[in-house]
Amino acid sequence: MKKHWKTRLIHSDVKVPEGFRSLNSPVYRASTALFADAATVTDAWDQYEVGYTYGLYGTPTTLELASRVCELEGGYRTIITPGGQNAISLINLSLLRSGDHMLLPESVYGPNRKLGNDVLRRFGVQVSYYDPTLGAGVASLIQPNTRVVWCESPGSISMEVQDVPAIAQAVHATGALVVMDNTWSAGVYFDALAHGVDVTMQALTKYVGGHSDLLLGSVTAKDRQIYERLGATQQLLGCAASPDDCSLALRGMKTLAVRLEKIEASALNISRWLSERPEIERVLHPALPSCPGHELWQRDFSGSTGVFSIVFREKFTKEQVLQFVNTLELFEIGYSWGGVTSLALAYDFSHYKSRAAYGTRIVRLNIGLEAIDDLMTDLENALASLRRE
Ligand SMILES: Cc1ncc(COP(=O)(O)O)c(C=O)c1O
Repeated sequence: MKKHWKTRLIHSDVKVPEGFRSLNSPVYRASTALFADAATVTDAWDQYEVGYTYGLYGTPTTLELASRVCELEGGYRTIITPGGQNAISLINLSLLRSGDHMLLPESVYGPNRKLGNDVLRRFGVQVSYYDPTLGAGVASLIQPNTRVVWCESPGSISMEVQDVPAIAQAVHATGALVVMDNTWSAGVYFDALAHGVDVTMQALTKYVGGHSDLLLGSVTAKDRQIYERLGATQQLLGCAASPDDCSLALRGMKTLAVRLEKIEASALNISRWLSERPEIERVLHPALPSCPGHELWQRDFSGSTGVFSIVFREKFTKEQVLQFVNTLELFEIGYSWGGVTSLALAYDFSHYKSRAAYGTRIVRLNIGLEAIDDLMTDLENALASLRRE
């Protein structure tokens, strides 16, 4: 039909040459997925089954990232979420209902704990906590209504490595599901599904993204039944990841191995050096014997990454620990780790029942890609500033 130029702005007849090939996946941005004809219209969410139906459920860019994470983790399928915390909430909202009970390790990522305490309890879910070093002993805390047991190994900040296979065996004997936050291992240094986990999640924000410039999460199900529960809930929660961010994560994935190799080596060197320092009581790095569960890390993990914590000796006050962090020049102060920049953050554990022993003497470090000698000089100078007190 003959078209007005205003119509041509929307419905153009231009053709570009076909057959372009490159090394990069295109970014498909879309809210509207088109159907071939009126009869094929459906809003079914599982686009692997029915084809593309709606931008919310992912464009090819989102699904490529999902499939690549799934391939690395060896799952049935992966769902991409707009952030790691959203991956956590998707799991809990998909697998729990009023009257159910959920168990979390005391070392779990703070907002995961808060979601349970402040939101899920409002919806009638019972939430309780277990000592992350309990292993098979978790069985004694499982109730008839326990449906989900979380693991996070190593735990956030206090870094306890968990006996995931023993926990999985105890939990599966009751019919409940084991869910794991596998962000620290970047989904590659701990094969969660092979160790008995049913659902894994990662904050792709950290190592897969790798450059502190995006927020994304992934949820990987070990089987179709669990995937369907997750997908049906995600459809209605309406949380869609941006294809632009997915494209950045796909790029980040290509350099994940070399970044992790360098980060691992630097973090190991720095943590060993810190463990010799007179100011430091304990280094909580899974690859060091001073970390709770070190032998489990040796047994179950194939590598380590760049986040670990240090505990200052008892004589150091909260103010001195804050001064140490403030004196650092290269280590920036910020929460979200896994990028190329080293970070330091002091924590206050005084209000925790189980972890109070570390009090206000614990600092989490994220090792980035700076020259290791410079990082050590920076740490040395900050430690020296405490001696001058
Ligand atoms: C262990 C862990 N899980 C999940 C998250 C949440 O990720 P996001 O910042 O993408 O929401 C974080 C973020 O710090 C984390 O450290």
